Amino acid sequence: MQEQTCVPFGAKRLRQETLLTQSKKEPAQVLAFVNQKGGTGKTTTAQNLAVCFGLHHDKRVLCVDLDPQGNLGHGLVYEQINTPKTADRLLVVPKVNINEYIIPVRPTIDLIHNKFQKEQREAVDRLPLYPNLLRKQLGSALTQYDYVIVDTPAGLCRSTQIGIDAADQVVLVVSCGMYGLKGMVAVIDWMAGIYNRLARPMPSIKVVLNNYDERRRFDREFRREILHIFGDDLFQTHIRTSTRIIEAAAQGMSVVESSPLCSAAEDFKWLSREILGLPPGDEPPVESYRFAEEEVVFERALLTGQPPNKFRTPWA
Ligand SMILES: Nc1ncnc2c1ncn2[C@@H]1O[C@H](COP(=O)(O)OP(=O)(O)OP(=O)(O)O)[C@@H](O)[C@H]1O
Ligand SMILES: [Mg+2]
Repeated sequence: MQEQTCVPFGAKRLRQETLLTQSKKEPAQVLAFVNQKGGTGKTTTAQNLAVCFGLHHDKRVLCVDLDPQGNLGHGLVYEQINTPKTADRLLVVPKVNINEYIIPVRPTIDLIHNKFQKEQREAVDRLPLYPNLLRKQLGSALTQYDYVIVDTPAGLCRSTQIGIDAADQVVLVVSCGMYGLKGMVAVIDWMAGIYNRLARPMPSIKVVLNNYDERRRFDREFRREILHIFGDDLFQTHIRTSTRIIEAAAQGMSVVESSPLCSAAEDFKWLSREILGLPPGDEPPVESYRFAEEEVVFERALLTGQPPNKFRTPWA
């Protein structure tokens, strides 16, 4: 059977030589992107950070999509992913061969995708809250990556609990357009309840502000208020509003790849440096993902509904 791979043309497939043969000793750092509210930018942030870690900082990254909407995969791969080996299935099948679930999407970035399958979704919702379920299912894969990026659905559901339970670091993604401080406090209370039940200390929680527009007084005040509540747990970097983000997602790409010089791409690069503990600075160029004609290519692609040739996958 033809191997399912989602590597864009021109990207070297290094995974076999690197990820699978070299096992790191330390397990990956697991970051879960969470908010009970829909549309705050969880997926966008997860996707762009994965690309920054993988392509700019040469980290080995596994993206795990716990949301049956499957948006994390849609934002990384233009074509529909057809394999039934989804993250939902991974959670409910007792014995798994993890390599069957992993889809390479960039030279150092892999994905366990998701899509809505009724029986599996219901099975996930019925799962008891096992401690470390996701980590156990990922098994040896955890030591093959530097970062595991977990995208969770909106709502305080079982998938979100599982993502939070697996996390070393929870990133609460808050959108300036959606005033919801009470909602954030509810998420944190809910998390505290989960960790109580699991008899484990809470992972660290950091907040990132998305959709920020310095020109809006509301946003400036909102930021001040969040800073007052969360102090150092608010990332210094906020993500500015940019229409480039929406265009990029429609192409199965991150904005960091499609419009690397736009404001939001700069913000994601800074945020990745902040998480890695690096000082702000220029990112090394990622030649294979930069195109002089990119604006034209993407606008044409949006009009025709066709992906730019450079991002067609080998089987398309
Ligand atoms: N900074 C931004 N500027 C402009 N658009 C943005 C920004 N961040 C996210 N978006 C857009 O907002 C929409 C919602 O973003 P996203 O899907 O990342 O949110 P989400 O929290 O994952 O949503 P859900 O709860 O449905 O999973 C998308 O269309 C995305 O392209
Ligand atoms: Mg999402």
